[in-house]
Amino acid sequence: MVALRKPQPILDDNAFAADVLRGLSMTPKRIPAKYFYDAEGSVLFEQITALPEYYPTRCELAILRAHGKDIAGVIPEGAALVEFGTGSTKKVRLLLKHAPKLACYVPVDISAEMLEAEAAALRRDKPQLPVLPVVADFCRSFPLPKETQAAPVRVGFFPGSTIGNFEPHEAADFLRHTSNILGANAFLIIGVDLIKDTAVLNAAYNDKQGVTAKFNRNVLFRINRELGANFKPDCFEHHAFFNRERSRIEMHLASHKRQKVRVLGETVEFRAGETIHTENSYKYSVESLAALARGVGWMRAGVWTDKKNYFSVQAFRFVGVQAARMDLGE
Ligand code: AVJ
Repeated sequence: MVALRKPQPILDDNAFAADVLRGLSMTPKRIPAKYFYDAEGSVLFEQITALPEYYPTRCELAILRAHGKDIAGVIPEGAALVEFGTGSTKKVRLLLKHAPKLACYVPVDISAEMLEAEAAALRRDKPQLPVLPVVADFCRSFPLPKETQAAPVRVGFFPGSTIGNFEPHEAADFLRHTSNILGANAFLIIGVDLIKDTAVLNAAYNDKQGVTAKFNRNVLFRINRELGANFKPDCFEHHAFFNRERSRIEMHLASHKRQKVRVLGETVEFRAGETIHTENSYKYSVESLAALARGVGWMRAGVWTDKKNYFSVQAFRFVGVQAARMDLGE
């Protein structure tokens, strides 16, 4: 008789499984923030963007509405516009409205369905604009469509302060990687949340309705659903605060009590009060982001903020590391 191996619920090459097991075996425990966004988590994030306390999305949209014409003025005629991590096309539409003739618009995202739906809607609304979606993880290297290479210049668009989820050294790597993808004379338009009053920051990640708490706990539900774990998400407390020294919001899930959880055949033990670090959301000043960008060859080409100075949209031009370091900015 042949000894059959028990079927494993998840293959070893599943990055989610590997990242979760690795993260939960670390001290302190952690789960990468990118795993918040399954279908459920994406809906919860959409709800967050409409919360009264969560200012970033509203502020960024206000900036794009008020200054869209100036911001789009950065985009040279005939350029290809490449958006990194496009969820909805709501933000880019505020630029496209004012953009000169573009060679094409290339939304890049890992979620194929969302990407195709948004691309189809945009093609209907702008029949003259070639919309060329690319399904890819924008943190990795990926080839751009050939229409993009034929354009004289490529402009990156990276809204939503997604850059804040990276550690600063990873943000620098990302900006370096972006210049490699976009090539010579590239421009970059990036939305970045700004350092501000602690109370405003803390409120944005501790909303009264508890949607952010639900978003945070959803990652445990997702691990249960997809990795067959037995987390009791209600036994974990949402904990979010601004760490001013490191200039970041930290989100954690704190275990209410001493407990054991089974994850993919492993037992993970929690002490009472022990936390899982689920997200960092770095906040920059206009200057600190410019310094980071300058270090990897991007020179500032424009900055726009809202009236309260809560959020910024910043434009950069790639000039190379030496030129950027010599030019100390405006
Ligand atoms: C999508 C990373 C910009 O950091 O504000 C919102 C995610 N986390 N509430 C942010 C988030 C908790 C959001 N980013």
